[in-house]
Amino acid sequence: MTERLEDIAQAMVAPGKGILAADESTGTIKKRFDSIGIENTEENRRNYREMLFRSTDAMRNYISAVILYDETIRQKAKDGTPLVDLIKTAGSIPGIKVDKGAKALAGPTSKIEKVTEGLDGLRERLAEYYELGARFAKWRAVITIADGCPTWNCVKANAHALARYAALCQEANIVPIVEPEVLMDGEHSTHDIDRCYEVTEWTLRAVFEELYDARVRLEGMVLKPNMVIAGQKCPKQASPQEVAERTVQCLKATVPAAVPGIAFLSGGQTDEQATEHLSLMNAMGNLPWKLTFSYGRALQAAALKAWGGKSENVAAAQRAFAHRAKMNGLASLGRWEPSLEKAAA
Ligand code: 13P
Repeated sequence: MTERLEDIAQAMVAPGKGILAADESTGTIKKRFDSIGIENTEENRRNYREMLFRSTDAMRNYISAVILYDETIRQKAKDGTPLVDLIKTAGSIPGIKVDKGAKALAGPTSKIEKVTEGLDGLRERLAEYYELGARFAKWRAVITIADGCPTWNCVKANAHALARYAALCQEANIVPIVEPEVLMDGEHSTHDIDRCYEVTEWTLRAVFEELYDARVRLEGMVLKPNMVIAGQKCPKQASPQEVAERTVQCLKATVPAAVPGIAFLSGGQTDEQATEHLSLMNAMGNLPWKLTFSYGRALQAAALKAWGGKSENVAAAQRAFAHRAKMNGLASLGRWEPSLEKAAA
């Protein structure tokens, strides 16, 4: 495969495909496993991810790239094949989450706001991940909307860290996924769609300014933003069409056309909402960048439930994963319809 950053970024957002976010930290995957009542052991984590990466139909046809966690990029399948090789054999690109998590931002809003850590030693870690097969990386910043938040201090600190991370990635010949996530869930999530628009616009402007200052080549990156959507606890939810329109409007106002692709996070949307919103945006047409998915929960929830930690359920779980991946693949082309969900049920 080509090693040019531009080509890798393009391949990550290839038409009809999107990115599987399977980079849950050990703490986050515990929450997912708790929901199906299975123990969070290294073997179970391996078995679960091996099940996903061996889903030939989903992986070959709809998944351009997979984001891994440090443990997973070093892990082997039951038969000894490195998990990274399963991904490459399926024609997909392995990548790695390199941030060390969002930590309380010191200052008056430290109970609410977070800043992502992980820049120390990142140059060396990127060199090792490259050797292990990673051709792209991910760094997630979180912005919380609450009374008086976000503060400019929080937006600025996170945007700056994202740019420093992205520049280090490109130096290591690794495509950075730049992920500034304005949260839609959590205890403060009562904001409406207008407030989400305002904060997302502010955040993206700050991020692209920092990327410019750091001389990050926009052609060799992928943006992973939230959609413009009301908070989960807001009594007034916007219609799917409004979410699609406001999101595209906000991105057009802030994301340069040199960026090859935008791959959304699902952020707490249901599986079908995440698919519908993406499809409606692509159906609008006339977009300067590719718009696709980089979902964690909204791609895996059905497969996780069908699997339930049992080897006899692997085939059913792979079918569930393939269905969700196909629906999102169609959404990336603007061709998803609600009736396609019923056809599979
Ligand atoms: P969700 O799609 O579950 O929000 O996860 C995507 C992701 O990678 C968040 O960093």
